[in-house]
Amino acid sequence: MPEAGDTAELIVRPARGEDVAGIDSLLRACFARADEADLVRQLCVDGAMVLMMVALDGTTGAIVGAVAFSRMAVTVDDRAIPAVALAPLAVSAAYRRRGVGEALVQAGLDRLEAERAVLCFVLGDPGYYRRFGFHEDYARNFVSPYAGDALLALPLQGGLMPCGVRGDARHADAFAMLGAG
Ligand SMILES: CC(C)(COP(=O)(O)OP(=O)(O)OC[C@H]1O[C@@H](n2cnc3c(N)ncnc32)[C@H](O)[C@@H]1OP(=O)(O)O)[C@@H](O)C(=O)NCCC(=O)NCCS
Repeated sequence: MPEAGDTAELIVRPARGEDVAGIDSLLRACFARADEADLVRQLCVDGAMVLMMVALDGTTGAIVGAVAFSRMAVTVDDRAIPAVALAPLAVSAAYRRRGVGEALVQAGLDRLEAERAVLCFVLGDPGYYRRFGFHEDYARNFVSPYAGDALLALPLQGGLMPCGVRGDARHADAFAMLGAG
């Protein structure tokens, strides 16, 4: 069954057990350190992974992109709200700048929205992530060890989370293994 984001050459779908080795190789190739591959492995072991989407070359079947979303502990006014962290996102070098990253992120966000997630955080380059609606203003008033200009958030559910809302945002424990967060 085709997923949103498919093109004639690209298939975007949730990851399956058989994709584990391909995702691991992709992450080790895309990042200078093994941290991101180790992060994904630990998130899965800890039961903190909420959703992984993969992009496959429709001709070869090779995994050429992946994005992970993990469970966060987020509270607003001392009430827990359903929130996730996007990390990591990776696209094989030969497939970049053709919208693979965008298709992966958007397909993941659409699924999470349908599953009632309210807020998605990302620690990344605002120049890339603002195109999806992520903004530092949504994250600024959350207490987090990663607080700063690179911590962005995106309200899901039609933007019901008001800008400037205050709270606590705690990433899954596995993030502590990342050198720079
Ligand atoms: C970042 C990455 C996932 C983008 O994948 P992609 O499939 O090329 O992304 P898209 O095709 O959807 O978007 C490409 C656009 O994003 C821009 N872009 C890529 N990385 C960017 C960054 N760090 N900051 C700003 N813009 C960026 C490209 O210049 C391009 O712009 P254009 O559309 O105006 O030409 C890919 O470059 C990658 O895997 N990089 C190595 C791993 C990494 O850094 N991951 C992100 C961790 S937060």
